[in-house]
Amino acid sequence: MATVGRTQTTDIAVHWKEEEYIHPPAGFVGQANLVDPVADERFSEKHFPECFREYADMLSWDRYWHTTLDTSTPPFWKWFSGGTLNACYNCVDRHLDRHKNKAAFIFVPESETEPTYTLTYQELFTRVNEVAAVLRDFCGLHAGDRVTIHMPMILELPITMLACARLGIIHSVVFGGFSGEAAGLRAADSESRVMIYADGYYRNGKLVEHKASADLAVECAGHEGQKIEKVLVWRRHPGQELLTTPMVQGRDYYMDELLKGYKRAKVAPVSMDAEAPLFLMYTSGTTGKPKGCQHRTGGYLAYVTGTSKYYQDIHPEDVYWCMADIGWITGHSYIVYGPLALGATSIIYEGVPNYPDAGRPWRIAERFDVNIFHTSPTAIRMLRKAGPNEPVKYDYHFKHMTTVGEPIEPETWRWYYDVVGKREAVIVDTWWQTETGGFLCTTKPALDPMKAGSTGPAALGIYPVIYDEAGKELPPGLERAGNICIRNPWPGIMQTIWKDNDRFVRQYYQKYCKDPKSTDWRDWPYFAADGAVLPPDGYYRILGRVDDVINVAGHRLGTKEIESACLTVPHVAEAAVVPVVDEIKGRMPVIYVALKPGVSDGRQVTDQIVTTVETMIGKIARPKAVHVVPDLPKTRSGKIMRRILAAISNTMDTGDVTTLANPEIVEQIRQQVQGEGPVVMQEGPEDVKRFGEQE
Ligand code: WTA
Repeated sequence: MATVGRTQTTDIAVHWKEEEYIHPPAGFVGQANLVDPVADERFSEKHFPECFREYADMLSWDRYWHTTLDTSTPPFWKWFSGGTLNACYNCVDRHLDRHKNKAAFIFVPESETEPTYTLTYQELFTRVNEVAAVLRDFCGLHAGDRVTIHMPMILELPITMLACARLGIIHSVVFGGFSGEAAGLRAADSESRVMIYADGYYRNGKLVEHKASADLAVECAGHEGQKIEKVLVWRRHPGQELLTTPMVQGRDYYMDELLKGYKRAKVAPVSMDAEAPLFLMYTSGTTGKPKGCQHRTGGYLAYVTGTSKYYQDIHPEDVYWCMADIGWITGHSYIVYGPLALGATSIIYEGVPNYPDAGRPWRIAERFDVNIFHTSPTAIRMLRKAGPNEPVKYDYHFKHMTTVGEPIEPETWRWYYDVVGKREAVIVDTWWQTETGGFLCTTKPALDPMKAGSTGPAALGIYPVIYDEAGKELPPGLERAGNICIRNPWPGIMQTIWKDNDRFVRQYYQKYCKDPKSTDWRDWPYFAADGAVLPPDGYYRILGRVDDVINVAGHRLGTKEIESACLTVPHVAEAAVVPVVDEIKGRMPVIYVALKPGVSDGRQVTDQIVTTVETMIGKIARPKAVHVVPDLPKTRSGKIMRRILAAISNTMDTGDVTTLANPEIVEQIRQQVQGEGPVVMQEGPEDVKRFGEQE
């Protein structure tokens, strides 16, 4: 698997021993949604693709589809062809008959003195309609237009997304912790004319100004040739001027003021083709430019609804809390679309998990009687470190807990199971990606035993395979890692990369395509860019990325993006970014730079690099260390050997370096980094956010 010049997080994966099975608690099994032991048979290859009708039939269609899977133009699969539906209708309107007074969301502000707010399905309906009227009548937006939403975790975020979906407008939500520049670039790529913001939000007890990001975003989009005509700004406290950044006349509008003109407005849901794009979600890949993963309406909604029901085990009477930020795919699929399609009640929490102390999540769980809890290993590690005995102080009872986003070490898993879950809850470790829409591997909570540190078998209707670099299949039990791929299409898979079909094919299908002319899906395995091993029991263990992506606190950062940001600092001649193991966040980026001749003040450049990375990408990309070195190790053809730098940062063996153009530099760097100790960036506990993301 090792490729010269690449840094792979699989190379620094921890080697765990095989773990014991733990069986789901009887209390869980007795009430679970998926208890039929022949489910695997129903979703077996023999029944593919019709097995996915089971998920699509959980939705309300305006027109039923005629073809479950159309494979005529691989790998651009079409799902539920001929069908039409509206995602917002499925998430809101259809629940009103029976559940209009049920809570859709309970908003928990970060401050414990500010009252919580319960939004019923009826009020969600009313508010979504009014916002849809603003988008249609004030902004002139129609089905197929794109809107970029750069907002924090407040109720207005899902309301805005659903208003877009009601009209068939393609939303592109950018995580609130990304910088204004990052949002502007994404707005330009998606050709958004309208951006939607919030003026501010609370983080760690402080009001964070967010509107300033809008000004940067508009400017940055402008440089890219995209004019942002309107910026709609939700106020955290409607009617109050909280912040100092001025509104730009004729461009910026407060939503609470606009909405006064649209009281009681009703907007009919637009019936969309099953294949119409529902949203874009930008994510990092192998090149510097983030790519807009384009998700379809019918297949995506069917897949997240089905998996929310079977794997999250959501029933109408449950109280579900997914701590992810809606600005990431987990939030889209498993806070907004899946749970709402099932008529769930969800908690939306504004702040950081350990504010004002590490007991906060458990107080929220007790107060609202949360019984399904969903978070990431980073958040679990962080909460464990900050308050290992906090959960026992609170009277809450989870029936089900999820972990997602990165591999979880068995030790962390056991704390989650024993202390957080009080041995009453089943755990699902769900492996998937922005591109895949929903879960790919996970245990079936009532049917499969759990195994700490392994994600589990394939999800229903997903047929994985592990290939070596040469395309040879690695059978179970070989104890060799390879590239995990999915042999078949499934309804949640992205449609394409926005405006870049070639890149879509190149990135995900080219590597293992058996015959580019074939229209048989069996010839088109999906390459996930993760390394994995498969023991004889069929429980996959995911080792991490095999491309230039670093998974920081469960979130993807492209090393190329960080390197390009470094290269904009005038004194920097060359830059290389590598992953290093971090106790809480799993991995963090470490930057190596060589300066242009004549520059002596390394410390000043280091500070500049950190500030530049934070401005161009966001604080989430803040490096763990920056090393200014005399030169970077290179091959004779001039390629920077990131693998060697990663080995040094992770105190691993650098291997044979004699073939390098400058072998002597390796020892020099090693002594500098390991001997003198790195220049570690200042980091307080407040840096660890909801999913561990920094801000
Ligand atoms: C990693 C997040 C191990 C993996 C849903 C993948 C995981 C990347 C797990 C996608 C897991 C996600 N165990 N690794 N349960 N879940 N990953 O696009 O490397 O933000 O490729 O989607 O996270 O990150 P993304």
